[in-house]
Amino acid sequence: MERIIFFVFLCIAVKGAIGNHIFIQKQANWTEAQAYCRRCHTDLSYFNRQSDIDKLRKDAGGNIDVAWIGLHRDPNNNTAWMWSGGGHITYQNWADGQPNNINGKENNAVIRPSGKWNDAKSGRRLHFYC
Ligand SMILES: *[C@@H]1O[C@H](CO)[C@@H](O)[C@H](O)[C@H]1NC(C)=O
Ligand SMILES: *[C@@H]1O[C@H](CO)[C@@H](O)[C@H](O)[C@H]1NC(C)=O
Repeated sequence: MERIIFFVFLCIAVKGAIGNHIFIQKQANWTEAQAYCRRCHTDLSYFNRQSDIDKLRKDAGGNIDVAWIGLHRDPNNNTAWMWSGGGHITYQNWADGQPNNINGKENNAVIRPSGKWNDAKSGRRLHFYC
């Protein structure tokens, strides 16, 4: 059987990318987004304090897009969240009423224009931040 090669996005060169959040304007599910960030940069974006969110907004030129960030539900604990780079979150910035895990299927999270987080279905195809 022919093996299907997933993940054909080429890395986009980004000037001055080191240490900055990078907005990737491609539609990818969370796993694809994570793979892209790990291959082309470091990982999906993560945040340990409010100033990290402020930094993302600055890097994004003032406007944050609805996009994947490196948040995933702990596979061993449904109410705990971890960063893609490893470890449980120590800071949280959920939007009101989130995470609400609709239908028990929202195992990843997006950042909203407000900078707040919202859990979402991993299979959704969205832009993302590395
Ligand atoms: C699961 O995670 C929650 C939130 O971090 C925590 O309060 C709880 O103790 C954890 N449960 C277990 C069994 O580790
Ligand atoms: C994400 O996309 C890959 C294909 O690129 C697919 O194998 C995987 O099942 C998708 N994940 C979800 C949660 O839909």
